[in-house]
Amino acid sequence: MSEETNVSSATPLLDVELVTLFPEMFDSFLAASLLGRAIENGIVRVNRTSPRDYAPGRHRQVDDSPYGGGPGMILRPEPVVAAIEAAEAERGRAFRLMLSPAGRLFDQAFAAELAGRGRLMLICGRYEGVDERVADLFADEIVSIGDYVLAGGEIAAAVIIEAVARLIPSVLGCEASTLDESFSAARLEYPQWTRPPTFRGLAVPDVLLSGNHAQVEGWRRLESLRRTQQRRPDLLLRHPVTDEEEALQGGGKDKRRKNPKKRT
Ligand code: ADE
Repeated sequence: MSEETNVSSATPLLDVELVTLFPEMFDSFLAASLLGRAIENGIVRVNRTSPRDYAPGRHRQVDDSPYGGGPGMILRPEPVVAAIEAAEAERGRAFRLMLSPAGRLFDQAFAAELAGRGRLMLICGRYEGVDERVADLFADEIVSIGDYVLAGGEIAAAVIIEAVARLIPSVLGCEASTLDESFSAARLEYPQWTRPPTFRGLAVPDVLLSGNHAQVEGWRRLESLRRTQQRRPDLLLRHPVTDEEEALQGGGKDKRRKNPKKRT
């Protein structure tokens, strides 16, 4: 009753169980690009189980109206729990995440935490929600990917799979790439360019053509800081400008405020 997306028999480094009413939504996502290759190579495995397959009756109804009234329909607990239990009976206990806008906010640190767990289950809600007893009895964490409401947990689950999978050694191909980028050091990533050196009147900064690696490194760190100050000052409140960054900025000569003040 569950579908496997992995052709290799090797033990995967990331083993994901998806519990979703719409397993087909993941078809192209799991087949494409680096993730598709990681699945083909057996580094990542993704199984999909649909609560619909465990719903009773000819109509296989999975939802019902909420107790106490209100709009929309709620996923009934029995088919969701049956899908969870069937997947785990076949392949073992997973760290279970329930997707919901009412959950812990997903970020890069959380992705790194999940990458270390090896086996994850992502339980996707649909309609107005899932009977609370599913979370009470089965969720190890409730996770939100942002402060907005999606029609269901599937896109959120895809976001989590991609963010976690690319932290698994050998999924990305070049492990250094994850060390350098936005959020790894609470700074936004520096801008990048490739050929041609001038495009529609815009030239690549000279320093990047200089071949001086130390200068390039310093310039990139400053650009990261400048972007963070401009676009995400909230990150600086939690991770203030370091002495090293201040030195790069020109130390005491710069009269601008080192860190933004928290608004009261
Ligand atoms: N389901 C609906 N909205 C969601 C969100 N923002 N994050 C996770 N799951 C969701």
